[in-house]
Amino acid sequence: MLFLDKVVWITGASSGIGEALAYQFANQGAKLIISSRKEAELQRVKQQIKSECLIIPLDITDNIAVENAVNTAIDHYGKVDILVNNSGISQRSLAIDTQEIVDRKIMEVNYFGTINITKKILPYMIKQGGGQIAVISSLVGKFGFPLRSAYAASKHALHGWFETLQIELKPENNIFITIVCPGRINTNISANALTADGSLYQQMDEGQAKGMTAEVCAQKIIKSIYRQQREVYIGGADILMVYFKRYLPSLFYWIAKRINPT
Ligand SMILES: NC(=O)c1ccc[n+]([C@@H]2O[C@H](COP(=O)([O-])OP(=O)(O)OC[C@H]3O[C@@H](n4cnc5c(N)ncnc54)[C@H](OP(=O)(O)O)[C@@H]3O)[C@@H](O)[C@H]2O)c1
Repeated sequence: MLFLDKVVWITGASSGIGEALAYQFANQGAKLIISSRKEAELQRVKQQIKSECLIIPLDITDNIAVENAVNTAIDHYGKVDILVNNSGISQRSLAIDTQEIVDRKIMEVNYFGTINITKKILPYMIKQGGGQIAVISSLVGKFGFPLRSAYAASKHALHGWFETLQIELKPENNIFITIVCPGRINTNISANALTADGSLYQQMDEGQAKGMTAEVCAQKIIKSIYRQQREVYIGGADILMVYFKRYLPSLFYWIAKRINPT
């Protein structure tokens, strides 16, 4: 019961990593808020959760909806102890082909939506004397990767923003930020990814299918939140690319140019 009676708000809880996180937080005694756009899917998730669970349907790119959602969450539980910013969309298209509207859409969801909900919950966390915010970035938040230009940019942007926030927060705010960088996880992320013209890719990538399960990924995320780790890498050999980029950049570029990105 690592999170007994903690109020945990998970965005993007209708599938994949967010859904797995919802079950595991509930098993650890948390009271949940689950959000995403597809209310029917959130209902399906809620039916499998025994602890208290509030559904707040939400498109995180809708500023007014985010404001209303924060008010609903605070009205219901009186506090949010942990916000897990997990909502996100990926990309499968070359940078040169990708329409500007698609670049903007990916930034809107992954970056602006995430920082918007975070900024709206922060004053409540400060007032209540503390809290924790996790953000699900990606290994691609640490290096560029083929067919993921806007996606990688949006995840890099999250690092800049959340690192700055952690530095700006005062010790007495008692708010801790955990940036999570998963590698390939077996979810519908590739099927839901946007192509150059904004249409859905609708394919399960081989790399995705062979990836870590969402359940194992969620276990590792929950541990990193419990331990208040600042930044955590979750995956297999793909994690090596973070260190190659940092210490052996020529090797990083050699591999990245030859890698199968799907
Ligand atoms: N799978 C991987 O290999 C991998 C690797 C690194 C990082 N990640 C990150 O992990 C997070 C979860 O992805 P996943 O792999 O679990 O993929 P997923 O199954 O496609 O889940 C994405 C979630 O985001 C929600 N979402 C999308 N747009 C939204 C919006 N505008 N407003 C609110 N919610 C929205 C979706 O719900 P609705 O459609 O119901 O809105 C869904 O619940 C993402 O941030 C992703 O970038 C995934």
